[in-house]
Amino acid sequence: MRKFGVAILGLGVVGGGTYEILTEKREFFKKTQGVDITVECVLEKNKDRALSLGIDEARIATSIEEVVTNPNVDCVVEVIGGIEPAKTFVTKALKSGKSVVTSNKELFAKYWHELEAEAKAKDVGLYFEASCVGGVPIIRTLQEGMQANDIKSIKGIINGTTNYILTNMESRGLSYEDALKEGQKLGYAEFNPTADVEGFDSTYKLSILSSLAFNTKIYFENVYREGITNIDKEDIAQGKKMGYTLKLLGIGKKTASGIEVRVHPTFVPSDSMLASVSDSFNAVLLEGDSVGEILLYGRGAGALPTGSAIVSDVIFAARHQTNYYSCFNNTLKGASKTKIVSDFNSKYYISLSVKDAPGVLNKISGAFSKYNVSLKEVSQVSASENEAKIVVTTHSCLESAVKKTLDKLSKLEEVFAVKGCIRIED
Ligand code: HSE
Repeated sequence: MRKFGVAILGLGVVGGGTYEILTEKREFFKKTQGVDITVECVLEKNKDRALSLGIDEARIATSIEEVVTNPNVDCVVEVIGGIEPAKTFVTKALKSGKSVVTSNKELFAKYWHELEAEAKAKDVGLYFEASCVGGVPIIRTLQEGMQANDIKSIKGIINGTTNYILTNMESRGLSYEDALKEGQKLGYAEFNPTADVEGFDSTYKLSILSSLAFNTKIYFENVYREGITNIDKEDIAQGKKMGYTLKLLGIGKKTASGIEVRVHPTFVPSDSMLASVSDSFNAVLLEGDSVGEILLYGRGAGALPTGSAIVSDVIFAARHQTNYYSCFNNTLKGASKTKIVSDFNSKYYISLSVKDAPGVLNKISGAFSKYNVSLKEVSQVSASENEAKIVVTTHSCLESAVKKTLDKLSKLEEVFAVKGCIRIED
């Protein structure tokens, strides 16, 4: 039986889960996959952590050199995260002729082109299923399940932390701050939540997923990004009354004018599939021209779910003698002819705090019509003393037109504040 040796770099939550699956299921994989996979060594600064997982001291490496010169290691699993030392370690592994499996979305989004060039030069594998949406097999679905399709769109809840926060703001009326604190207590949100709540994590994932979906490298800095830190629970509650649920969506769309790639809070119809994805769960809705819609749903993080994706890559590497790489021009910024649409069309929900006086609505609607933004509904949702809250929804219009309208509105003396501006995706 083919033997396949693995090294794990980093024994945090995901590294531990990967080790557990690989060791506990060794016999199962021999039977079901016809390959004997062994963990040959680990690289982990915290020796006690390695020992607590039951790893022999002899298998705890003390340097990356020890790992990459080990002749029993065929594949290096990188689950350290961040750019350094992960990038140096992965590069050394590839240069030494080892296949690499990584869960590192930031590293992949930023240096995919460089790492792929190293892998190609040595004809070794480079796999990254666990970099996007944890245990959900989205990368393999895109690469091996949807080749018959021209993919029209990809829409996903690809960050569990923000989904946990938004779900609890809606269902229990919590403020953003309270929902975040609770998520941190329960281990759904990091102590430093910036990467998640400001949308960076989703941006890295969307750049990888949309590159695969649209067969062209989408540079992560081309992904429009807006996080959830300014979301007010009143807008979530008002949206709910109007039949919408708020999600932080990653959206990639192929349109006649080019490719749209954006991450932002989005109202989706409350009876839609994406609206029903709650708490820390993730889901990705793909639309292909042959198959129609496909929804992949599951856990986007955690020791065993992410370990499941990593192990599937390890088995893939063990069972395939030829490696495949991206079919598109994978340079830093991708093909120059790829047009990214920055001024996209969307419908909007806008909430305003205004003076409660005759003629105010007229002034407000004048600002919208000045920039050709067509209103769908306008309602006064509350009033107190001199202040009223007005909620407006629009028909589809250009982002730039809405920005100009909001700028104009915020300068009107009758408008106290633009409270919320949320895109709607039907
Ligand atoms: N921090 C991510 C999330 C999981 O909240 O979904 C890893 O990408």
